[in-house]
Amino acid sequence: MARDAMTDTSLAIVVLAAGKGTRMRSDLPKVMHPLAGRPMISHLLATAGELAPEKMVFVVGPDMEIVGETVAPHPTCIQAERDGTGGAVKAARDELADFAGTVLVLYGDTPLVSAETMRRAVEACCGDVAVTVLGFRPTHIHQYGRLITNDDGGLEAIIEAKDASPEQLAVNLCNSGVMAFDGRHLIGLLERLDTNNAKNEYYLTETVALARADGHAAAVVEGEEDELLGVNSRADLALAEAVVQNNLRARAMAGGATLVDPGTVWFQHDTVLGRDVVVHPNVVFGPGVTVADDVQIRAFSHLEGTSVEAGAVIGPYARLRPGARIGAGARVGNFVEVKNADLGAGAKANHLSYVGDARVGAGANIGAGTITCNYDGFGKYETDIGDGAFIGSNSALVAPVTIGDGAIVAAGSTISSDVEVDALAIERSEQVAKHGWAAAFRKLKSKKKG
Ligand code: UD1
Ligand code: CA
Repeated sequence: MARDAMTDTSLAIVVLAAGKGTRMRSDLPKVMHPLAGRPMISHLLATAGELAPEKMVFVVGPDMEIVGETVAPHPTCIQAERDGTGGAVKAARDELADFAGTVLVLYGDTPLVSAETMRRAVEACCGDVAVTVLGFRPTHIHQYGRLITNDDGGLEAIIEAKDASPEQLAVNLCNSGVMAFDGRHLIGLLERLDTNNAKNEYYLTETVALARADGHAAAVVEGEEDELLGVNSRADLALAEAVVQNNLRARAMAGGATLVDPGTVWFQHDTVLGRDVVVHPNVVFGPGVTVADDVQIRAFSHLEGTSVEAGAVIGPYARLRPGARIGAGARVGNFVEVKNADLGAGAKANHLSYVGDARVGAGANIGAGTITCNYDGFGKYETDIGDGAFIGSNSALVAPVTIGDGAIVAAGSTISSDVEVDALAIERSEQVAKHGWAAAFRKLKSKKKG
């Protein structure tokens, strides 16, 4: 009976992540390398989740607790010996026993597949098709397995590059690694894999020829390179990052932000930009940034762990570090660093300042060169600056210290005691004026010279 008629449309997803990733030359498991600030495996987890599978299982190596923690609460199966992609799926067999729906296998190092493309692979695995493979035609084909098709376009076999003949190597339709199986046949196919190949591994890809030999059909579904590229080296990682960044740029623009020169703006997966935000060239968003509507972010600014309220103007050359909260209409100008600090609505810190562990009241003005001295080598202390306060240029505010609402701190002061509301605080030696001194000095010096 055709499988459709039985309508077992349940879905299980197995993600293979036990490979050592030798070609990355890294102490970090390959799938933990980040793209747009989150591990490859987390990208895959988020996308696969959109298919709402009945279960999702991750196959990891024995020394990869960090991967297990990242994908929790989904179960992990440990592949004790790295004996190939076929061995990896075998490691999950207990989770798949008696599963008669469709089993979608994803490779942890192929993190950019969209949910839509995954769905196409799953849907094509129906009727007498026992296996579907997502194929693509990559620009550089060297590392991929080749899809050998028959005259009807059906899939006959997958041949790994290392095992391929020159004619097979000339085929440009490649295996992305995304495969969907009729769950009723999968375990039986896995049991018959052997290691008679160039790598002496159990290749999952061998299941295609085995299924064909059993009289089942196998099908190819084609996808785009951007989604299907595999990450084996740092160079591949950079290619994948470029794809992700372009997607995030497109998302920001579709959401109503202007990117003056999109290719120079770097996002994280969680960057949120409002409408009519303008981002000038060479801006970098670190993790955890939320920007409200009508904000301008000028060139060469770097933001992370920050929220910016509507209408604020940031940069050029501003640095907003974790815990910076910039109020509506506030301004943070060139060479100003803000960390763990609230800048109230309309407050200004326009030039050359460090504002850390602080509250700056609404409408306050932080003069050029102001430093909150928040650290004594041991602890961190807070500076509280009231609404409408005016801090003169080149002031040092030695925390903990409070500057009252409307107070003025005279330029060049080092403030270590609290300043009352509406008071003037001035801390510097009195200026001495010596009438005609400079002229006399010049006269004396030029006489000696002559
Ligand atoms: C694999 C495919 C190749 C395909 C390519 C797509 C096989 C035999 N080859 O080659 O046809 O074109 O992906 O990118 O499947 N893994 C384990 N345990 C292992 C070995 C690998 O879990 O013992 C995992 C890895 O973590 C990785 C994935 O399986 O996520 C693929 O392994 P990798 O060694 O990178 O395979 P490729 O050589 O790229
Ligand atoms: Ca790979």
